Amino acid sequence: MKLLVIGSGGREHALAWKLAASPRVQMVYVAPGNGGTATESGLVNVAITDPGELAAFAAREGAALTVVGPEAPLAAGIVDLFREKGLRIFGPVRAAAQLEASKDFAKQFMVRHGIPTARHATFGELNAARAYVRANGAPIVVKADGLAAGKGVVVAASVAEAERAIEAMLGERRLGGAGARVVIEECLEGEEASFIVMCDGAHVLALATSQDHKRLRDGDAGPNTGGMGAYSPAPVVTPEIHARIMREIVLPTLAGMAKDGTPYVGFLYAGVMIDTAGNPKTLEFNCRLGDPETQPIILRLKSDLLELIDHALAGTLDQAEAEWDRRCALGVVLAAHGYPDAPRKGDRVHGIPAPAAACRVFHAGTRLDGNNLVTSGGRVLCVTALGDNLRIAQKRAYETVDAIRFEGMQCRRDIGFRALRDGGSRTSAGN
Ligand code: AMP
Ligand code: GLY
Repeated sequence: MKLLVIGSGGREHALAWKLAASPRVQMVYVAPGNGGTATESGLVNVAITDPGELAAFAAREGAALTVVGPEAPLAAGIVDLFREKGLRIFGPVRAAAQLEASKDFAKQFMVRHGIPTARHATFGELNAARAYVRANGAPIVVKADGLAAGKGVVVAASVAEAERAIEAMLGERRLGGAGARVVIEECLEGEEASFIVMCDGAHVLALATSQDHKRLRDGDAGPNTGGMGAYSPAPVVTPEIHARIMREIVLPTLAGMAKDGTPYVGFLYAGVMIDTAGNPKTLEFNCRLGDPETQPIILRLKSDLLELIDHALAGTLDQAEAEWDRRCALGVVLAAHGYPDAPRKGDRVHGIPAPAAACRVFHAGTRLDGNNLVTSGGRVLCVTALGDNLRIAQKRAYETVDAIRFEGMQCRRDIGFRALRDGGSRTSAGN
């Protein structure tokens, strides 16, 4: 059968590659795809991004299933559109994608259903927001309500910094409509983890745990980015904490969405903060897989992803089981000159080795220019490797990183440092 994957990042390259490995799949279209999906066997790029045209394409080509990578088309209702036309698609409908598309919606939802999260208040008016920040003091977190491509959250160390963020969002409308309302919340301390599950509306299948590295530079310094690297599993999520996240966050979320009349079908990503006592709180929901978390997670997935998605669409995820490679996986993002503020495009990329069983290079911001591969976005590649422990996976990934060259390439040299700090030779005890 033929499938369609929507998106153009490293997450979509990994998804499409994994789906193409299913024995039932002949070909995976990727719309619009990138330089990696253009050259990977079994994948074919399609230069379409308009939802209506994508639905027409899926119908015309007989795509048996469409899988959506990024949040923007989900928030715009692409799943509703495909469903209206009787096309099979995996992802949340527009009303359910609000969990990511509106932070105020997500906070109200969590308060209503008793899901642990930071205390908050929402404002549309500048002076009231300022007064709240002054009354509560710093550190404090200011978030644009809407989708802001990773630029909508300011963890402010001082009241002045929080006031500047409020002014930029509510006063100057720097983020447009996304910043027309702000959520201001308590600053949580602890260690973050990405907890991603598949949902069928009533049941949940947890994927392997992972941890992202959001800051640009080593030691978590520099500006926030979409994510500079990730690894799986995340040892901070012990079996006890895993059980608590399921019981206190994930299952109540699924039950709450069903109760509110918007049953959640699709990948659901809970960003959680785990304090020193092991209490998990929800930082955010994403209505999709994480990028770059997907790359190490997919490299560890031994099961057929298509079968898992079939279960999710049939409402039988309770009968599905995912099998994971016992090894650790670690992905290092190579970013373009000027990322995240003003990534430069058009630099020639050299030295990407042929894929190996234990190391694959997933493409994101690349495109083919004739026979040459050139950069075309902020995050360019994600070098992802497996190893018997995290240190071996890290060493393997960086050996490949060191073979790749493009002008102005930026990458962190410390991906995995939190887990490695605590010993690092630890083999994966859980997922
Ligand atoms: P979000 O898009 O809500 O996940 O926010 C992006 C990043 O900001 C998170 O990954 C955290 O590192 C940080 N963050 C968000 N909310 C909080 C909070 N309440 N306390 C501390 N850090 C936060
Ligand atoms: N890596 C964080 C995200 O995908 O939102």
